[in-house]
Order: sequence, then C-alpha cells, then structure tokens
Amino acid sequence: MTLPAEVYERRRRRFLDAIGDGAAAIFPAALEAVRSNDVEYRFRQHNDLYYLTGFPEAGAVCLLLPGHPKEEYVLFVRPRDAERETWTGRRAGVEGAIGTFGAAMAYPVDKLDEKIPEYLAERERVYYALDRDEHWTQRVLRWIRQARASRPRTGTGPTAIVDPGEILHEMRLRKEPEEIAHIRRAVAITADAHHAAMAAVRPGCTEFEIEALIDYTFRRAGAAGPAYPTIVASGSNATVLHYTTNDRVMNDGDLVLIDAGAEYAGYCSDITRTFPVGRRFSARQQDIYELVLCAQLAVIEQIRPGVRYDELYQRALAILIEGLLALRLLTGSVDEIREKELFKPYFMHRIGHWLGLDVHDMGDYKVGGESRALEAGMVLTVEPGVYLTEHIEDLGPEWWGIGVRIEDDVLVIPDGHEVLSAAIPKRIDEIEAVRGGAPR
Ligand code: GLY
Ligand code: MN
Ligand code: MN
Repeated sequence: MTLPAEVYERRRRRFLDAIGDGAAAIFPAALEAVRSNDVEYRFRQHNDLYYLTGFPEAGAVCLLLPGHPKEEYVLFVRPRDAERETWTGRRAGVEGAIGTFGAAMAYPVDKLDEKIPEYLAERERVYYALDRDEHWTQRVLRWIRQARASRPRTGTGPTAIVDPGEILHEMRLRKEPEEIAHIRRAVAITADAHHAAMAAVRPGCTEFEIEALIDYTFRRAGAAGPAYPTIVASGSNATVLHYTTNDRVMNDGDLVLIDAGAEYAGYCSDITRTFPVGRRFSARQQDIYELVLCAQLAVIEQIRPGVRYDELYQRALAILIEGLLALRLLTGSVDEIREKELFKPYFMHRIGHWLGLDVHDMGDYKVGGESRALEAGMVLTVEPGVYLTEHIEDLGPEWWGIGVRIEDDVLVIPDGHEVLSAAIPKRIDEIEAVRGGAPR
C-alpha cells in the first residue's frame, strides 16, 4: 500500500455508496504478462483494483458488496505458500488481506469459482469493466450465469452488467491531495532526469546513453521506472511519435526530443523537451520551436476551472495554423485548412490527456455530448508538436526531419493552474544557456 489505509477505505465507501444496495462489483488483478518463454514482465497491478485496495499482488480479485451486513469488502488472494514464495516473493495471504489490507473477509483464490457465484446470487447488478481481458471476462460471465441460474426459484440473481467506469473513473479523474503529492514527486524526479539529460547530451553520444541516464535517475530516486518507454529521438527520429529504438548517434545540428516520465508510487508523469544536440538552434529549428512553444504557453494560460478540454485543442490549432501559414509551410485559408484538416500531417495528435495512475488516465473527454469542463484537482498534459517529414506533400527538404514537442504536466487549481513541471527549461534562451555549458 502506498497510501494510508484510510484513503483506500474512504474510496471504497464512496464507490459502495454510489453503486448502492443490490449491486456487486468485481475488480480482478492485472494479468501477468510473458516477455519471452518463461520470463515475465515485472508485474504491475490493474489501476482500478489498486485505486480501491492498494493490493499489489497478481491473481487477486476484489469483490465489493454494498449493504452486506458483514462483508462489504472481500478479497480473494494467493495463499501463503513457503515454496512458491521462495521462488516468486512474499505474499500477504488471507491473513494479510484482512490484517493489512482491511478486507472484511478473505479467501484463497481457489475458492473464487465457489464463493463468487454464491455472493452474486443475492445481487441484482454486477459492476464489471467491459474492456477487461478475455481471461477474466469469461470467468466473470460464468460466475454471473451460475448466480442467475437460481433466479426463477429464488427471485434474486444478477440481471445486468454495468461498467464501473462511470463512477470509478470520475473519482480517479479528480485527484485527492495524497495523489497530487505523489504526482508532484513523480514530476520532481522526472525534472531531475530532464535536467541531467539536457546537460549530458553531446554530439557523438548515442540515444541509449541518454535513455540510460534518465531511467537511472528515475530508479535511484525510488521511482518504479519509466511510466512508458523513454523516448530519446534525435534528428528525424523526433518525427516518430512513439520512437523507442533509441540507438542512433546524435550529431551537432540535430535536435533531440526527449519524452520521459517517472512512475512513482503508481502515479505517472509525462514530460517532453526538445533541444539542440549542439549549442544552438538553427534558424529553421528555432522557427518551429518558437511556434510550438507559443501554442503550448497559450494553451496553459487558458487552463482554469470551467474551460472545456476542446477549447484547449482549438487554441493550439489556431496558433499552429497561423504559424505554419506565416512560415509558408501551409497555404490557403484558415477555414479550408481546418475543414480539410490540412494541418494533420504537421500536428496529428491531441493536445494532451488526463494524467494519474495511467499515463493516459481514465475519464471521458466528452460528457453528455459536450467537451468536458475542467475542474480543480484534475491533472492533464499539454503537449502540442510539429513534425516535418518527407511524407508531407510539397515540403522543401530543408525542413525534413525537424520534430518538436513540448509537454508539461498541469494541475487545475481553483483560480487557474499550476505547471508542475515548470522547473525544466523550455525557453530558447534558457535551453541555450544549459547547452552552452554542456560537454562536447
Ligand atoms: N508519452 C506519451 C504521451 O505523451 O502521451
Ligand atoms: Mn503525453
Ligand atoms: Mn509524453
């Protein structure tokens, strides 16, 4: 558990009260994923289960039963087992599920197929996420079918499956103070890594050296590691949005785009900086950089409660289109460019996303057909970019290979916003001051 037990207790209470008597909710653990043959990826818990319980182990299932006289919170866990624990690590076991994790009742996982249908037979609705993996979904469907088989005789048993996201992801979208503290820590560690990278890049170094420096900076500060594979994209690699090969030698004259964020206590950061491998931006690189920065600052400036998510995108788009027209990279009228989406080859992704336990955190961007209005306590990224490739029709080769993205993590506060990642240089003069003192 990375937060005090009462935080999870409070969350479960809210969720239980929201789904109401007659309901049950099932949250299975993430699946263990095979990397190759008999080697697995390091296990990471499913965020919905983690948010409600803090329980970190594989194989578990959390069952919530609002209004149950004694057992509103039931955990199924892998039991203590001296031999298995010798190979794969300690387990909380049934005792720990109750003693440490606060479950009202706990069973070993081999009781799942017996106990869950019994509990569900007294419930009308089952909250279960419709986008979960096949393994759990098939199992949950079997439990539900079994539980409702007795309905003709008993008059009880589930008749509906409901996605818990509408309640749970609305909760996850508005961060509690404890969560904001963890995100701040993730961002602070990431800021150290970006500072270190900006000072260490030199012509002739390989992208993976800088990746290693970043990931080392994360781990030594106690982060679980990168929240997503670290992107160190120099030269034209910067135009590949999810570039992770990171094996190119950097040259003086290149830009390098670094998109890296630490995960701390389950919470993610997600930050991008783009800077020259040499000391200075070239004139063309500077033109594109200034444009992206101008869009990014204008979007951040707008962030406050009440502003709609789509307004942020529209603001970025207006500035980017105007700038691309001024640079003669686009031609025509603004209306035509918008209508035919002629900006898409230059700026093809969204302006940002919610940030939390997931990098692309849960929570709908549209509510009731309208773009969602921001509220204090939400955390989002702002990350406009411009990517110039040979695939863009009629684009002069002198522009090819320039890719710029600038990404910050922003907390919405009652009277505006706070840029959590503000400490990492992003103005050209600030960046060139760091690069001027870098090794060569
Ligand atoms: N690093 C993933 C993203 O920026 O959304
Ligand atoms: Mn992002
Ligand atoms: Mn990113």
